[in-house]
Amino acid sequence: MMVVPRVTHAEVNLAAICRNVRAAREAAPGMKVLVAVKAQAYGHGAVPVARRLADEHLADWFGVATVSEGIELRAAGIDTPILRLSHCFADELAAAMAADITLPVVDATTIDDLAQAAGKVGRASYPVHLAIDTGMGRIGCRPQDAVGLAARVVDRGLDLQGLFTHLPISDTPRGNEFTRSQLDRFCAVVRAIQQARAAAGRDPVPLVHAANSGAVLGHRAEVCTMVRPGIMAYGYYPDATESPRPVSLQPALTWRSRVSFVKVVGAGQTVGYGRTWTAPNDSWVATVPIGYGDGYSRLNSNRGRMLVGGRSYPVAGRVCMDQTMLDLGPVRPGEPAPVAVGDEVVVLGTQGKQTLSADELAALMGTISYEVTCLIGTRVPRVYIG
Ligand SMILES: Cc1ncc(COP(=O)(O)O)c(C=O)c1O
Repeated sequence: MMVVPRVTHAEVNLAAICRNVRAAREAAPGMKVLVAVKAQAYGHGAVPVARRLADEHLADWFGVATVSEGIELRAAGIDTPILRLSHCFADELAAAMAADITLPVVDATTIDDLAQAAGKVGRASYPVHLAIDTGMGRIGCRPQDAVGLAARVVDRGLDLQGLFTHLPISDTPRGNEFTRSQLDRFCAVVRAIQQARAAAGRDPVPLVHAANSGAVLGHRAEVCTMVRPGIMAYGYYPDATESPRPVSLQPALTWRSRVSFVKVVGAGQTVGYGRTWTAPNDSWVATVPIGYGDGYSRLNSNRGRMLVGGRSYPVAGRVCMDQTMLDLGPVRPGEPAPVAVGDEVVVLGTQGKQTLSADELAALMGTISYEVTCLIGTRVPRVYIG
């Protein structure tokens, strides 16, 4: 099938991602780094991002959410260790093992299922990471069960390669006390597991990890040997306003399009579905070929803005599935439209002196930058620079 380039595309700066990951490495000296590339590297494209980070030796591990995400990386020739960060169902285990995806275990059942599946494929000592829930409330065993489960992993012949927890409020100083108490609990459990192993003549579990971007930027846990940044690799602080900013990050994605049509809308006429925007006077209106079918949320209707020619123009009317209109302002006698068909439009990113960040789009949609970039659809080609 012929791939036809599309004016609406997302430009991903791989050099910026490398710089951001280097910043994460510098913020966590001596630690291994797992870069979360789940959900297509938060919308940036998992394979190109992972390939580049692997080539530059910037990622020791990649984190995925599904088996298919891991398989996609392996099919692209990426042989960096991969950890699945979420629960693996028993019927997914064989496929995960065939792709050498390291798996989490959370209780006796997941340990036993995994040991059985590993035995069947001749990989009895398959590596696993024990998830310990210290306050996220998502997956993981209770801290008081962790020592017993760690022993069970070994009893079943599996390789206990990692111990991890997750931090729900590490991204704001408001969560410092809770995060500290989580990390203290995690440290205590990890120490107990390591001591039990030492007493049994076993090596310590090598990979101990807790830190998402929020904790990379603001917390330390003495027992940890690895960090797991995600959003900071893509250039955003996990909380748009409250995260500490000890390192400077560069957003990696610019979402571009072009003006497809420019016209005058007479005073009192309306634009778009539902007739929600009425021209206050004779106005120039531009059409841009991007819509909610591309992941440009309909919540931007009559609220969002886009950049054209280094200036900011508000969205006029409702965002359609494939097109969005911009209010270019009043018609002035003898003056041409301020923009022309073909002019570049920046939907997210910087144009001239203006910047429209994923955090700004997220605030308007009542969400976070993570969701804004994840929502950019498969119909939007990713173009790689840097
Ligand atoms: C288990 C786990 N670790 C690390 C991350 C990366 O988090 P962040 O993108 O906030 O750095 C995630 C992402 O949600 C996660 O689920």
